[in-house]
Amino acid sequence: MNITFAHSKGGVTKSAIASNLCVWLHKKGHNVAAIDLDAGAYGNKSLTTSVGQAEPEIPIYQPADSAELRDLLPQLAEQFHFTVADAPGGFQSTAQTNIELLKHSDFVLIPVKPEFDAIEPLTVVEEIIDEARLENPLLEARVIINCLDGRTRTGRDPQSIVDLIHSICPNLRVMRQKVRVDFSAFQSARINGTVVIQGGRSPAQEDLNALFAELLSDMIVSIGRHSQQQASTANS
Ligand SMILES: Nc1ncnc2c1ncn2[C@@H]1O[C@H](COP(=O)(O)OP(=O)(O)O)[C@@H](O)[C@H]1O
Ligand SMILES: [Mg+2]
Repeated sequence: MNITFAHSKGGVTKSAIASNLCVWLHKKGHNVAAIDLDAGAYGNKSLTTSVGQAEPEIPIYQPADSAELRDLLPQLAEQFHFTVADAPGGFQSTAQTNIELLKHSDFVLIPVKPEFDAIEPLTVVEEIIDEARLENPLLEARVIINCLDGRTRTGRDPQSIVDLIHSICPNLRVMRQKVRVDFSAFQSARINGTVVIQGGRSPAQEDLNALFAELLSDMIVSIGRHSQQQASTANS
């Protein structure tokens, strides 16, 4: 199962959720590899840094370009139950790498903060997904709503964010489980060189655990559906 985190905008919490997912899958006993295509990202911690510090047993790959990526992805798919990739930001300049990644992905996960600036560019992400689906029609996409703040109007009414997403991109599915803003948990993780799901109990930890459980069950449903489709194609 190849999972890719993508967005055309930076700072949407791609690497933060991706690193927690890698460690969560590893803790569940799955054989997981991280693929970091945004290692040089300025400022925030990359997938390489977060996973490297939190769980050194998880192998991390950093393909240099889309050609290297094209060779690597099928090999990793054979070797690992799961790969979790952090796509490069800025879809315009990196469109080829992103399309290559999505052509070989089963799931693309698109984190957003509850802000118009993070949600409006979903149309760009959707175009890239549509292009990848010409070659990879089974690619599934999910939006993850992160950083919900109960002190704000949208934080108290998450359905308004789901409605906004659907008014812009009617076909993009949104994960039911949302993640609350939790500066304390993310800050402790940063200081301790861990990820949030390894730290003490916190709202973000609770939400991430529930989010990943929902995702895993979605992935199991999708595997079942694809094998049914393959069986019916083989029989027809
Ligand atoms: N639920 C949350 N509450 C508070 N801070 C968060 C939450 N999720 C992520 N963050 C923080 O948001 C910042 C940006 O996330 P990051 O994963 O680096 O974004 P991206 O990879 O999309 O550029 C990081 O400092 C991260 O720790
Ligand atoms: Mg990042």
